[in-house]
Amino acid sequence: MIIEVKKLEKEFGTLRAVNNISFNVKEGEIFGLLGPNGAGKTTTVKMLTTLVKPTKGTATVAGYDIIKDSNNVRKSIGIVFQDPSLDDELTGRENLEFHAILYNIGKKERKKRIQEAFKLVELEDKADVLVKNYSGGMKRRLEIGRGLLHEPKVLFLDEPTVGLDPQTRRHIWDYIQKLSKEKKVTLILTTHYIEEADYLCNRVAFIDHGKIVALDTPKVLKDKLGGDVVSLQINSGIERLKSEFRKKKYVKTISNRDGFLELTVDEGEKKIPEIMATAQKLGIEVSSVNLHKPSLEDVYIYYTGKTIRDEGGEGWKGMMRSRMRQR
Ligand SMILES: Nc1ncnc2c1ncn2[C@@H]1O[C@H](COP(=O)(O)OP(=O)(O)O)[C@@H](O)[C@H]1O
Ligand SMILES: [Mg+2]
Repeated sequence: MIIEVKKLEKEFGTLRAVNNISFNVKEGEIFGLLGPNGAGKTTTVKMLTTLVKPTKGTATVAGYDIIKDSNNVRKSIGIVFQDPSLDDELTGRENLEFHAILYNIGKKERKKRIQEAFKLVELEDKADVLVKNYSGGMKRRLEIGRGLLHEPKVLFLDEPTVGLDPQTRRHIWDYIQKLSKEKKVTLILTTHYIEEADYLCNRVAFIDHGKIVALDTPKVLKDKLGGDVVSLQINSGIERLKSEFRKKKYVKTISNRDGFLELTVDEGEKKIPEIMATAQKLGIEVSSVNLHKPSLEDVYIYYTGKTIRDEGGEGWKGMMRSRMRQR
């Protein structure tokens, strides 16, 4: 295990920002911490990167204790922060040179690694342009390249695509995957984008109010929820149909919103005829049917009772989760 986290906690006054978390990360993994703003992701990263001292617990990174052996931890890691930390008045190359000098990388080696970094993040033709003329996506790529210059074993990426447009975000995802494959570096990333965690991470920990509420591969998390979601669009009679479905043993959960009735059932594709017949028998018209596997978002809602976007709102999805739990 390249990272072992043991009962880590961080308190700020009376606030427990990180609450007794434990997890391990395997070498070469892309490991994600997924949670809403304020969940404790950055604080966790700061503790693992020795920037913040834990209140309780400990961790090892690349075999070194974050408290007793912080110098060696620092030598083994790279960090790309949530907030940009480039010098706008310098060129891309100058920014990387500055970083390489900080890490005592000799002149010849420096030149070679900087060239490699520009190649990896495809900024070779922008190397000598002032960073203030870079786009947001280019800056993020430069930071990723910079984070790799001293060849760390572990690279931390705190919200690597926050503030970028969806197209640029996709682009950054490709670089992250590419460097995971080509550099064999272990990646720890934090995000509040569910699709990002789903797309990139080998394993993901859901973090909510400083606690890990679930941890596994996105696939296993989705499979655990089980079954299929059948979504029916209905203009009228939704309540009548709901109470009818409550009597059916094969329906695991029921919820409705905005004229859609959602049922969780096993082998959804086989149950659709029966579901349609039930509606027809009651004279209720179904104007569309959709069948999908639970998404990572469905799983997130199940564990936290809310969507990641509307923090605090126990909306219809929260209700769905409590119903699932009751069963
Ligand atoms: N230096 C600090 N002093 C006081 N409270 C802090 C400090 N840093 C973070 N917090 C609080 O700790 C909680 C977790 O913050 P953070 O780790 O930044 O969450 P995330 O990165 O998941 O958005 C938040 O409530 C935040 O306001
Ligand atoms: Mg953060």
